[in-house]
Amino acid sequence: MKIRTETYEDYKAVYDINVEAFGNREDESNLVERIRESDGFIPELSIVAEKDGKVIGHILLSKANIWKSDKTTEVIVLAPIAVKPEYQKKGIGSSLIHEGLERVTELGYGLVLLIGHPSYYPRFGFKPARSFGLELRQFDVPDDVFMICELRTGELERIQGELRYPTAFFEEGM
Ligand SMILES: CC(C)(COP(=O)(O)OP(=O)(O)OC[C@H]1O[C@@H](n2cnc3c(N)ncnc32)[C@H](O)[C@@H]1OP(=O)(O)O)[C@@H](O)C(=O)NCCC(=O)NCCS
Repeated sequence: MKIRTETYEDYKAVYDINVEAFGNREDESNLVERIRESDGFIPELSIVAEKDGKVIGHILLSKANIWKSDKTTEVIVLAPIAVKPEYQKKGIGSSLIHEGLERVTELGYGLVLLIGHPSYYPRFGFKPARSFGLELRQFDVPDDVFMICELRTGELERIQGELRYPTAFFEEGM
């Protein structure tokens, strides 16, 4: 299995994987397309897993901001991640997340946030974000699914405020 940066040639496969993994919904596939066209897109943070020449998994990390009064701090949000159903539970999702977090660290970001399964992400260092003074108002989600991962020691103490996802995350903009 190879983990590498997504290229234009992968777009169709990535679209299909997200449809399949999310139970035949196109929402996440369309989200990927909107993020790719947005200012928050960082090409090397759109990563695929390839096996025998076929794309079987994808992760996308992109820019968002934490707002405190009128000051903003740029952070990274993870969404979406998808592995082709027949390849799930083989460690591919984990490999994509590890590679993603490594690349985010190399790019100099200190924090990654996400909305996701509370039983999956803690193994990668994610913790409930609201308990560290982070807020999320755009989505009405329980405390345990809004998570944060500190990539640089001290960032969690230093940065508090409201996470705001960019307009690409909302179909008609906000
Ligand atoms: C979530 C997903 C990307 C994980 O990829 P994967 O390659 O199966 O992950 P790994 O093999 O690295 O890890 C498997 C572990 O994830 C857990 N897991 C997989 N899907 C899960 C889910 N929906 N909720 C909670 N845990 C989940 C498995 O139970 C397994 O746990 P274990 O190691 O304790 O047995 C993949 O299952 C997927 O595409 N799911 C559908 C899309 C989705 O829900 N994306 C995430 C949105 S937050």
